[in-house]
Amino acid sequence: MSHTLRDDDLSNPSTHDHLHDIVERAVALQPSRRRLLKAGLGAAAVPFLSGMTAVSTAVAATAKAAAPAERMLGFEAVAASSADEVVVPAGYRAVPMLPWGEPIDARGPAFKPDASNTAAEQERQMGDNHDAIEFFGFNAARNGFGDRSDEGLLVMNHEYINPEYFYAPDSDPAHWMKPFTAEKARKAQAAHGVSVVHVRRNARGEWEHVKASRFNRRIHGNTPITLQGPAAGQPLLRTAADPEGRTVRGTLNNCGGGRTPWGTYLTCEENFNGYFGWNGERKPSALESRYGLAKDGFGYQWHTADARFDLNATPNEPNRFGWVVEIDPFNPEAQPVKRTALGRFKHENAELVIAPNGQVVVYMGCDERNEYLYKFVSAGRFDRRNPHSAYNRELLSEGTLYAAKLDAGGVAGDRMGGGTWIPLVFGQHGLTAANGFQDQGDVLLRARQAADRVGATMMDRPEWVAANPRKPGEVYLTLTNNNRRSDDNGSANKADGSTAAGSARPPVDEANPRANNVWGHILRWNEGGGDATALSFTWDLFALAGQPGVAGARAPSANINAGNLFNSPDGLAFDRFGRMWIQTDGNYGNVGDFAGMGNNQMLVADPATAEIRRFLVGPSGCEITGITFTPDRRTVFVNVQHPGEIGNHPNAPKRADGKVFADNDIARDPTRFSQWPVKGMRPRAATVAVSRIDGGPVAG
Ligand code: FEO
Ligand code: CA
Ligand code: CA
Repeated sequence: MSHTLRDDDLSNPSTHDHLHDIVERAVALQPSRRRLLKAGLGAAAVPFLSGMTAVSTAVAATAKAAAPAERMLGFEAVAASSADEVVVPAGYRAVPMLPWGEPIDARGPAFKPDASNTAAEQERQMGDNHDAIEFFGFNAARNGFGDRSDEGLLVMNHEYINPEYFYAPDSDPAHWMKPFTAEKARKAQAAHGVSVVHVRRNARGEWEHVKASRFNRRIHGNTPITLQGPAAGQPLLRTAADPEGRTVRGTLNNCGGGRTPWGTYLTCEENFNGYFGWNGERKPSALESRYGLAKDGFGYQWHTADARFDLNATPNEPNRFGWVVEIDPFNPEAQPVKRTALGRFKHENAELVIAPNGQVVVYMGCDERNEYLYKFVSAGRFDRRNPHSAYNRELLSEGTLYAAKLDAGGVAGDRMGGGTWIPLVFGQHGLTAANGFQDQGDVLLRARQAADRVGATMMDRPEWVAANPRKPGEVYLTLTNNNRRSDDNGSANKADGSTAAGSARPPVDEANPRANNVWGHILRWNEGGGDATALSFTWDLFALAGQPGVAGARAPSANINAGNLFNSPDGLAFDRFGRMWIQTDGNYGNVGDFAGMGNNQMLVADPATAEIRRFLVGPSGCEITGITFTPDRRTVFVNVQHPGEIGNHPNAPKRADGKVFADNDIARDPTRFSQWPVKGMRPRAATVAVSRIDGGPVAG
């Protein structure tokens, strides 16, 4: 997300068809192919295979056929671009699908090109600003989770709206959104959340939306959702509408995501604070300030028309957001569940791995300047023999949340070090009643303040986390940028939790080594013993983005060159082959520090050699975020978010007086800057299906 309404310069993460998913399913089917699978997938398969007895012929054959012929970076790099189009390598096609406003099913209303659809209509259409996306293949019978690559459910997030394109201009010439109404607030709420879309690849290799399917579903800002886990029912979660504190209306600011081996989708609530505000006077509490709640939020105006978003009317409502939400896409009747055991913060994504002993580990970043990296370790252990069992489906209800503390290691200045995971457990490490914590639910609800208390390391905006399927325990994190990192003593988040969000200015450290980090970097760590449940790790820096001509403290890493310039890494995901896909949400001005970088883009990295190669460039004003792969890797689905955000784009439209279009200008002339993905129409977020024209594995 990078929008002008935001109260700071936050800008904005993937998929993961995990190796272990396929192995889990494969193992259930045919024991005799075990050695074959192991050989085809490499060493990473070993921990997932231990104790297993079987493997699917189809899966093993795919692995066997693909592995020897497929290359890590088997494509020609594309050049940077500022054009209003998606650029992919020679021999590839990129087909947009499922834009904002597309009817969700056969009964959904058509999109109106002038943006005049009602709130009720929007509830039956694709939401806006697509983000995380996951492909869940069907089983052979097409009625549940399986390994099909030709038919499945695409499940995706809708993070926020661009009001300048989202609303047809109203009667106030000075402000297209005014007068603001409850209907407008409800329409925006309807465009957030998640879409579940039944898709099928036809005989021509094109993806079709199966509109008559019962699986098509919208979950949005007013959908009933269960609050579950240690914080459910907390006093701070109770409202007049929900005195028990156990049922929330809606999910909002759905940023990154994740998936589980039991076939569910995880959607992560990020900048929920931006929707709230207050009418009249209010002195925000320390908790409110720590999570960035402010009088006018990010300018969406909901609080002026909907009392649920006015803190003076409903002060506990913000506490019901900032969670990870679990959704079963194969059961359209199932109510989504907010998993409070995973903590409340501004969640980016949720990268789930199964540790060697079966415990479920979920890695999560909190995306704001000088916030923290977390991981959750389940109490229970994954039942490999019954991957979809009711028991497995509750593994995210109970466990331990940790925050990361990084150190400089034994050698100063080498940008390598060690770290520990500190448990956020009531009664430990100062998380006590004497320090204001009531119980474990309170610690989870106020996870940022708990991490302040235990002295977690302030990072340069933790975005997506991705675990290397070929090297157990190796994990990567994008740190997108940070203009509040200092080269002097600066200031730290206070241990008492009283810091206003984003206001600290910590000094550089080895893991966040650049003051005013405009380009961002990618951190890598290895858990002790290759075990995701380990409480200590070692880390290094995989990449520092930047300009190769720059020397000294701001210099980029050696794997950055004139051919792969980028800034603000955000989305991050591994495919099953072991490629790491990097997506950006940064400055597309293409001048100064950002010259030669062009529009936001997607690159592929070889984790072993650290080579990075540009694969895709997005249209004007967009960010590229969210990626998922069919099991056969013949299609990669990527989301294009907020095409047409003008920002400092070199092709920004100008008014007669020479000034760049403001929001009120583009709202009245919405095709002036971008017409992606449909020529002649206003820009709309959409998914892009990328495939090789010869049908081979993408990027291979
Ligand atoms: Fe929604 Fe941090 O990106
Ligand atoms: Ca993001
Ligand atoms: Ca060091």
